[in-house]
Amino acid sequence: MARRKKIYEGKAKILYEGPEPGTLVQYFKDDTTAFNAEKKDVIEGKGVLNNRLSEFFMKGLNEIGVPTHFIKRINMREQLVRSVEIIPLEVVVRNVAAGSISKRLGIAEGTPLPRPIVEFYYKDDALGDPLVTEEHIIAFGWATQQDMDDMVALALRVNDFISGIMMGVGIKLVDFKIEIGRIWDGDFMRLVVADEISPDSCRLWDMETGQKLDKDVFRRDLGNLADAYTEVAKRLGVLPNNATPMGKPTLIN
Ligand code: TMP
Repeated sequence: MARRKKIYEGKAKILYEGPEPGTLVQYFKDDTTAFNAEKKDVIEGKGVLNNRLSEFFMKGLNEIGVPTHFIKRINMREQLVRSVEIIPLEVVVRNVAAGSISKRLGIAEGTPLPRPIVEFYYKDDALGDPLVTEEHIIAFGWATQQDMDDMVALALRVNDFISGIMMGVGIKLVDFKIEIGRIWDGDFMRLVVADEISPDSCRLWDMETGQKLDKDVFRRDLGNLADAYTEVAKRLGVLPNNATPMGKPTLIN
């Protein structure tokens, strides 16, 4: 059998050529990195969990009319997605101060923000993904003014949707990162949510105990990452309550 064509390999995922033009297969690895890959590990089962969780969020967004690249999950580790032209920005929305905003501005972690704050980081590993302003983004042609308005609107809708779902299961959405891509329909272009939405790219705190249920568990050595993600998946009903962290007995497609 011919080996399928690898289009791109990132730190946590691989993109393969899809079955139809304009599609890709997105494969979720168990590789886990932090601090621009200075810290690395392989966490068994993480890719399976993120595939399921990202499916859950992206499908929900599609259903409420927030466009995403997601088409369908294919198997335990793979999903079919639309091929997009990724805008080279990480779009971060914060509801509560944590991580880099706490460090940069000296705001204690856990301080609620007066309103959701949207930030943009230029995707460039060699530069360590620096924070950039709208001026930089437009001047350097990474996005237009219209794109900026659309990206902020998309990011805030994602924030409302995921915050609401998480609140329903006793989890606070502290912040998250999304990536946005362009899809061309002839001469028409629209922006869609791309990449993944998973505990790798969110901060999720238990509303009662404050327990961290996201990649900070790995970044800060707070315990077992797969257990934390399994807890999120169980609460959302993505995994049955009797699933093991690996989810082996229940995760057959
Ligand atoms: P930060 O506080 O480190 O800027 O992170 C903000 C949010 O973005 C947090 O939920 C983690 C997520 N994030 C990524 O998904 N990828 C990254 O490379 C970084 C730095 C943060």
